[in-house]
Amino acid sequence: MKEIYYPSRELSRQARIKNMCEYNDLMEWAKEDYEGFWDHWAKEKLEWIEPYGKVLDESNAPFYKWFVGGKLNITEQCIDRHIDKRKNKAAIIFEGDRGDKQIITYLELYRNVNRFANLLRNEFGVKKGDRVVLYMPMIPEAAYAMLACARIGAIHSVVFGGFSAEALRDRIIDAQAKVVITADGAYRKGAPYMLKPTVDTALEEGCDSVEKVLVVQRNNEDVVWIGGRDYSYNELIENQPDVCEPEVMDSEDPLFLLYTSGSTGKPKGVQHSQAGYILWAQMTMEWVFDVKENDTFWCTADIGWITGHTYIVYGPLAAGATTVMFEGVPTYPDAGRAWKMVEEYKINQFYTAPTAIRVLHKLGEHEPEKYDLSSLRILGTVGEPIDPPAWKWYYDVVGGGRCSIVDTWWQTETGGHMISPLPGATPVKPACATFPLPGIMAEVLERDGTPVATGEQGLLCITKPWPSMIRTIWGDPERFKKSYFGDVVKDGKAVYFSGDGAVVDEDGYITIIGRVDDVINVSGHRLGTAEIESAIKKHPHVAEVAVVGKPDPIKGESIFAYIVLKDDVADSLGEEVELSKEINDVIAREIGNIAKADAIVVVPGLPKTRSGKTMRRILRAIAKGEPITQDISTLEDPSIVEKIEEAVRCAG
Ligand code: PRX
Repeated sequence: MKEIYYPSRELSRQARIKNMCEYNDLMEWAKEDYEGFWDHWAKEKLEWIEPYGKVLDESNAPFYKWFVGGKLNITEQCIDRHIDKRKNKAAIIFEGDRGDKQIITYLELYRNVNRFANLLRNEFGVKKGDRVVLYMPMIPEAAYAMLACARIGAIHSVVFGGFSAEALRDRIIDAQAKVVITADGAYRKGAPYMLKPTVDTALEEGCDSVEKVLVVQRNNEDVVWIGGRDYSYNELIENQPDVCEPEVMDSEDPLFLLYTSGSTGKPKGVQHSQAGYILWAQMTMEWVFDVKENDTFWCTADIGWITGHTYIVYGPLAAGATTVMFEGVPTYPDAGRAWKMVEEYKINQFYTAPTAIRVLHKLGEHEPEKYDLSSLRILGTVGEPIDPPAWKWYYDVVGGGRCSIVDTWWQTETGGHMISPLPGATPVKPACATFPLPGIMAEVLERDGTPVATGEQGLLCITKPWPSMIRTIWGDPERFKKSYFGDVVKDGKAVYFSGDGAVVDEDGYITIIGRVDDVINVSGHRLGTAEIESAIKKHPHVAEVAVVGKPDPIKGESIFAYIVLKDDVADSLGEEVELSKEINDVIAREIGNIAKADAIVVVPGLPKTRSGKTMRRILRAIAKGEPITQDISTLEDPSIVEKIEEAVRCAG
């Protein structure tokens, strides 16, 4: 039986959802009248240019449509509608790596986004439906660029700045982007780093769709300029008018693509649409973070991930809040950086990943005590399972025992939070995502759609469509169907399966176990084993490879690679250290540093069934140093298991 933490009376009093009765009422309403529930919120929350005719169209499931026929422009939701009341309010507080600061009011945001939109529309000829790839550091111009695309109806696709030129190229080609927006570089740990050269390399091959590259000059380091292709944002923005007519968008027009890893093949372009996404981004800011008019909200994610999209840019701005954007890392110049910022900006909600919490805990257990963190009300965590010790430290030391912790479970595909405590209502068990949010029908099921028995692990599914859900995989509707609606059938209907395993306890609390497919989660970064394996296979000496995740006390999981060498080199190669370095260089080149393996072990073969399937469960157990419990007699060569164990022991 886990301890239970109740929200303080103070938090409950001011929260939008104040207790579990209110939560249950909302849930009942959604269950009884699903469309009526969403209709209510879409009418109450969104600024429509033209009303929608139908709330939910299920006729072509699983290609669901929401708020059908409605017209809007979500930048009006995020910016224009705030101008009357909030024009001098800080929309974005930016802090640079080296401590430089900028406050951007809603009126300034309006101008900056409109000018950026005019630049794209008038100078670059970007039109509704065109794809624009962003490869940007964490600077305000990244947010302006996203919103400028939305203003003119272009579809943005942000690629995390840690991805390599190859990975960037793949995404540009898949999206057939017309424009790439980047920066010369930015600053990290006090020193400049570069982005533009990576774009140059990416564009060397196969990116014929790209007509123009826009470069924000952030660190003013030297970069190569290619005439007729590369343009300086800082120069072009000067002459742009302050007002740009918003494009009238359909509820279901695509808003953005965000590439994420699956269990097979290349990363997939998760496609989100306009109305449903912005509705849920705003509602979760209100329900889960209980954001209030004078609150300052800080999400430490990078805008290259969904968390940055929904909870740095779209959600906070739609809610009219003040959002903090930070270029640096929370451990530079020391482990007090994040807490210093909380004190300085009087942050009310702080949202980060368990890896960051574990690192900050390890590097500065008592560091938070040196700062005034009394402004904090709600602490959020996301991206990977949090362990009870990290949770406790977050609660006791960072939150001073006063704050609610919201352990938010969601995914790139879900657009916004799905399962999370409500800060003023939910009695929380440490390291437990608790209950689905009102309107979200999350269930833990067996493959045949029956609810899993209490305490047993099952498949985490969402059994009804929801407004902010993925609409399709860009250019590959069949893969969309197969990836998400191919595993679990409930009452004769294919339901969304997340790829995660979860357990429901005797009180109905949901605890997320983690991925049950071939996706691994390193420091909250989602990586496909297939993707890493295909990178490693590019090394000329590698015949076969299998990658698994190994539990890691800080990163959650680390990457463990088993390599079989080609016959002609197997005997002659003695230096595994060199080989490991070379293989990691290949991974860095093909994907990025985030996908480098922590362990690379050369083995004589992989444990395969007679039909040729690699038994990853065996490899996972060996990586963990656990005894093999599964039946190995069905393997083509059962003796291989011992040989692999021996190789891992020797690699030590
Ligand atoms: O395994 C789950 C884990 O992160 C995966 C989604 O990764 P991504 O699409 O990159 O989005 C991350 C940010 C929303 C999920 O399938 N995950 C996310 N939140 C949690 C989590 N695991 C446990 N607890 C969470 N709160």
